[in-house]
Order: sequence, then C-alpha cells, then structure tokens
Amino acid sequence: MSTCRVCAGPLTEFLDLGAQPNSDAFLRPGETDGEFFFRLAVGRCGSCTMVQLMEEVPRERMFHRDYPYHSSGSSVMREHFENTARRLLATEATGSDPFVVEIGCNDGVMLATVGRAGVRHLGVDPSEGVADEARAKGVRVRTAFFEESTALGIAAAEGRANVVYAANTLCHIPYLDSVFRGLDALLKPDGVFVFEDPYLGEIVERTSFDQIYDEHFYFFTARSVRNLARRHGFELVDVLRLPVHGGEVRYTLARRGTRPPTAAVAEMLAEEERKALAEPATLERFAADVRRTRDELVALLKGLHADGRRVVAYGATAKSATVANYCGIGPELVSSVYDTTPAKQGRLTPGSHIPVRPSEAFDEPYPDYALLFAWNHAEEIMAKEREFRAAGGKWILYTPRVRVLE
Ligand code: SAM
Ligand code: TMP
Ligand code: ZN
Repeated sequence: MSTCRVCAGPLTEFLDLGAQPNSDAFLRPGETDGEFFFRLAVGRCGSCTMVQLMEEVPRERMFHRDYPYHSSGSSVMREHFENTARRLLATEATGSDPFVVEIGCNDGVMLATVGRAGVRHLGVDPSEGVADEARAKGVRVRTAFFEESTALGIAAAEGRANVVYAANTLCHIPYLDSVFRGLDALLKPDGVFVFEDPYLGEIVERTSFDQIYDEHFYFFTARSVRNLARRHGFELVDVLRLPVHGGEVRYTLARRGTRPPTAAVAEMLAEEERKALAEPATLERFAADVRRTRDELVALLKGLHADGRRVVAYGATAKSATVANYCGIGPELVSSVYDTTPAKQGRLTPGSHIPVRPSEAFDEPYPDYALLFAWNHAEEIMAKEREFRAAGGKWILYTPRVRVLE
C-alpha cells in the first residue's frame, strides 16, 4: 500500500490516468524509442486529506538545463507577476534591507520587478536554461533544488528572508519535510511563506483533470495546507483565490502565533466543508466526470476525422500530455499543435508524438477546428487569433465540458 508523502497515512487511489510520459519532454523526430513512461494515478490521504500522485517521477527527469516552460511566455502571467512583486514589496519586503527569496523563479518573471526596485533578492531554480534567462534580466539565481541544505546555505551566506515566495512550484515538490525545515531556517521570526498553486476545488468543479501530470505532485486545499503547515510549526494565515492557470489559491503561512489568520481562511475552510471537497465520494464523482470527458472528446474527434475535417491543437502545454495520452489522441486525430515556445517547435509532443509548429503557421491555411489545449490562456489566445473564427474556424474546449464554440 502506498503511503502519504506528507504524514505517512494511508493513501486511497481514486483516479488512474494510465501510462504517461514526462509532460515537458518534447522529442526530436526520430528519437521516440525508449521514451520514459510512468503510471499517473491520484490518491487521497485518509489522515491529513492531502491529494497526491501515487507514483513519484525523479526530479532530475523533469527539471534540468532544457526545461522548456518559460513563465514570461504569457502577457497575462507577466502582468500577474509584476502585480505580485509590487504587492510583496509593499506588504512584506519592508524595513531596513529586506530580502526576498523565490523558489522556482524560472526566467525571473517575478524577481525582475523586485530587482528593479533595488531590493535584495535571490531566486532558486534547478533548471539552468531558464535560470540563465533570469540572470540576463539582472536577477540573482542559485541553480539548485530548494530543500533544507539549500536554505541553510542561503541563510548562512545572505541572512534570513522577510518573505519566501513560490508560484506553481511547491506542488511540484514531493519532499516537503525538507522544504519546511529549510523554510524554518531561512525565514526571519516574523517572515512569511507565500505560495500559489492550482486549487483542487477548481479542478473538481471544472473537471480540469489535465492539471494532473508528472510535475504536479500535490493538489492543495485550504484544509490540507492548514494540516501541512501545522506539522511544521506554521499556521495558514491567509488565502486568496487567483484567476490564473485555471484557478489557483495563494496561501500565506507564518510561524504559529505570529499573525492572526484572516477571515478568508475560515471562509474557505467552511466552503470546503460545505462542498465536501476532498471527501472520497466527491473525488469518485470527479473521476467519473473525467472518464465521461474522455469518452465525449474522443467521440467528437473521431467524428470530425470521419467527416474529413482538419483538426489541430493550440498550445503544447504540459497539461495536454495528460489529455492526449489518456484519451489516445495522436497525429491521426490532431495533425499538429501550434505553440509560441521555440524550444517546443519542431519537436513531437511527449507520448502522443504530434508535431509542434510555430503559432505563426496557424493560418497556413487555417484548420477547420482547433482543440484549445492552452484553455487557461483562452482569452489571450482567442483575442490574438480572432481571424481564425472570422474565417469560419471553430475552437474545441474540453473543460468544464466538451464543446465546440460556434
Ligand atoms: N514560478 C514560475 C511560474 O509560476 O511561472 C515557474 C513555474 S514552473 C511550472 C516550475 C519551476 O520550478 C521550474 O522553473 C522548475 O525548474 C522549478 N523547480 C522545480 N523543483 C524545484 C525545487 N525543488 N526548488 C526550486 N525550484 C524548483
Ligand atoms: P501553460 O498552460 O503551462 O502556461 O503553457 C502554455 C503553453 O501555451 C506554452 O507552451 C506557450 C503556449 N502559448 C501559446 O502558444 N500562445 C499563447 O498566446 C500563450 C499565452 C501560450
Ligand atoms: Zn497524509
């Protein structure tokens, strides 16, 4: 039996998404032999309620020199992180000589604003390629996995931090015991740890099962985060819902007894209880919704194929690996995926082997249908690709349910 990575309690599996590749391992044509696969399945801890993957993929397989995700690729996310930086500067990075640390700083999208404000900062990210891009923006980065030893090294060399921040990164880290020991060593006595990640409440509500992939190890709720924080001498003192990446929550943790929790914490905990979020029956219902989505999407794509329609996809997201591989969607149903990321272009999608082409080629000529894999950037992409619909093209969405936008 598998046990919880947080508390060693019993894990009960509720969803099996089958054999899956590394979601960000885009392949060179001709290099598809020997591809890595693992079993992507999700379970819930009967003790601390944490929802998590049943199998862990070694971190070096995911985060390395060629990690292709660039945070600055979306204008909406650039604005989000500029606003986040301004907020941290106004509320937490105050007093004399404040120090801001970011776990998973990627290409420096958030810390660049902190650096421009002249505030002392350090990013920690193991992926050298994106870390170099951050450095080119004037951001200081340590190329490392954040864990206890990294934190001890930073605290010894640079002193303690007012705030440690992490976006779309904490949920990637199975070894949270070590991370929290590190946070305890690195944060000033009244320092805070602020992190934001996809919210299980949104995933269940929107049936956005594509948020489940190798990198996303944990699926947090206010309740599971409160339990996690308490194990390590911290308290959940604030929560804020964010519209980005399909619905996230920003959690603020402080050392126990240093800050009173806001009313928003009690409200979110009460809402989760009312909705029975992360209760076994809710998660079983979610799993049934996922299976229905798969059946409807496959039926739609096969029907379009039989009618001779040209169908492509838009956004070679990490998320889409789960959809393509779980549903068995390959190049015969979706001929290419269009994407702005140079590191993905000219490659094949992991597991499903659909060619990735530059988004500039989307209109050469426009397809009949485009499956929007990057649905979390729908507004930005649909605005940019207005002409597609004007030319009679149709978007296909699969969350919260399978539908064609007429
Ligand atoms: N914070 C950025 C954002 O929200 O757009 C980047 C998110 S990206 C999905 C996750 C980042 O976390 C990657 O750049 C990866 O290299 C980094 N990462 C993964 N494990 C880490 C760890 N243990 N410590 C620090 N960074 C880590
Ligand atoms: P994400 O869902 O992990 O943020 O990944 C978004 C992917 O979609 C990334 O590979 C870049 C791509 N993308 C486009 O191709 N065009 C766009 O306008 C946007 C915002 C993203
Ligand atoms: Zn547990």
